[in-house]
Amino acid sequence: MLDFNYMISTKILFGKNKIERLGEELKPYGKRVLFVYGQGSVKKTGLYGAVTDIFAKNNMVYQELNGVQPNPRVSHVRQGIKICRDHDIECVVAVGGGSVIDCAKTIATGVYHEGDPWDMFLQGDSSIKKALPLGVILTFAGTGSEMNGNAVISNEATKEKLAIHHDALRPRFSILDPTYTFTVSKTQTAAGTVDIFSHVLEQYFSPTKEAFVQNRLAESLLKTCIVYGPVALSKPTDYEARAQLMWTSSLALNGLLGYGRISDWATHGMEHALSATYDVTHGVGLAILTPYWMEYVLTKETSDKFVEYARNVWQVTGENDLAVAKKGIQKTREFFTDLGMPKTLREVGVKENALETLAEKTVLHGDVGKFKKLSKNDALIILKNAY
Ligand code: NZQ
Ligand code: ZN
Repeated sequence: MLDFNYMISTKILFGKNKIERLGEELKPYGKRVLFVYGQGSVKKTGLYGAVTDIFAKNNMVYQELNGVQPNPRVSHVRQGIKICRDHDIECVVAVGGGSVIDCAKTIATGVYHEGDPWDMFLQGDSSIKKALPLGVILTFAGTGSEMNGNAVISNEATKEKLAIHHDALRPRFSILDPTYTFTVSKTQTAAGTVDIFSHVLEQYFSPTKEAFVQNRLAESLLKTCIVYGPVALSKPTDYEARAQLMWTSSLALNGLLGYGRISDWATHGMEHALSATYDVTHGVGLAILTPYWMEYVLTKETSDKFVEYARNVWQVTGENDLAVAKKGIQKTREFFTDLGMPKTLREVGVKENALETLAEKTVLHGDVGKFKKLSKNDALIILKNAY
């Protein structure tokens, strides 16, 4: 176990009707609110009315930033920062999935940043000092953004997608009412489940050998996705399935699994290059790339970890370790395809002549991967295999 400093500060209000707490939770942070949401699901579900009623009852003045797209754009962040400055906003409320939350986080810190917000993504985390307080109402289980200090933003002009990380970006509170996710489509539910699964894998496939408790925690989260992902697909209003996925989403990427060990994140590196270029749904990109990454990095040196994964997560049995390891990868691919995810980059419209550029973008800021370091050439081979 490596040394670490534990910091997971977001207050979670989990369960039906927890939105009733919104006014009380916002009280310490002020009366002038920026209300950030996406492209319309909050209006269809009635959440928009519920939130604005609470603002009114609590004498809060709110400005709106709406229309935030999946793979949120820096242009939206710029608009949000301008609104905050023009209206002397005191706190931000994000209602949506990872895209809305990440946009809101970047606005919350961008207000304090002199110059263009994209600079923060190029300069790195040390450029972040503080942020406006952020409250979240989660409507989509997947990214874990509701409980972490990460924000991922796309730059439509440069076709880049980059992340920032800072404890100041952690939401002060997040309201997790599983019933809000009943309306998430089958494809998006599947993509969210794959994203959760992938977050766990990125930390599970670690070069740190001594991480017993982290590994057992990780395996239980993976099994939760395996059990409840299909239930949520076949019965979107199954409360227990939605609740299990929602809490797993938060636990998978709030930092808990990564403490005390090094994480990999190579597959996310490749996927961010992909969704920056092709605007692919994040979880869909991960579903395609993950099994190919596994096949590429499975070697004699890494096989122990794959055997542990296959035996403990998929209950694969057998004497031959290599066969067991391969079976675990096969099970992973089948799980994703059973959720309805595509298997190849070709199926999501990627052009073969773009693979080189995707590989370049993957390593634009240096090699990726800690379980197995990937150079541009390694990334290119994986992308070609996935094509
Ligand atoms: O825009 P609306 O109309 O709200 O529709 C959204 C969107 O089209 C819809 N949706 C959300 N809640 C719904 C709903 N539809 C019906 N009913 C509901 N209750 O779902 C679609 C996808 O939403 P989005 O927020 O884009 O999904 P997700 O949560 O997967 O976020 C993806 C973004 O987060 C980044 C990804 O790269 C991507 O940009 N990530 C953020 C991370 C983080 N902050 O820690 C880590 C992840 O690895 C990831 O990179
Ligand atoms: Zn992810």
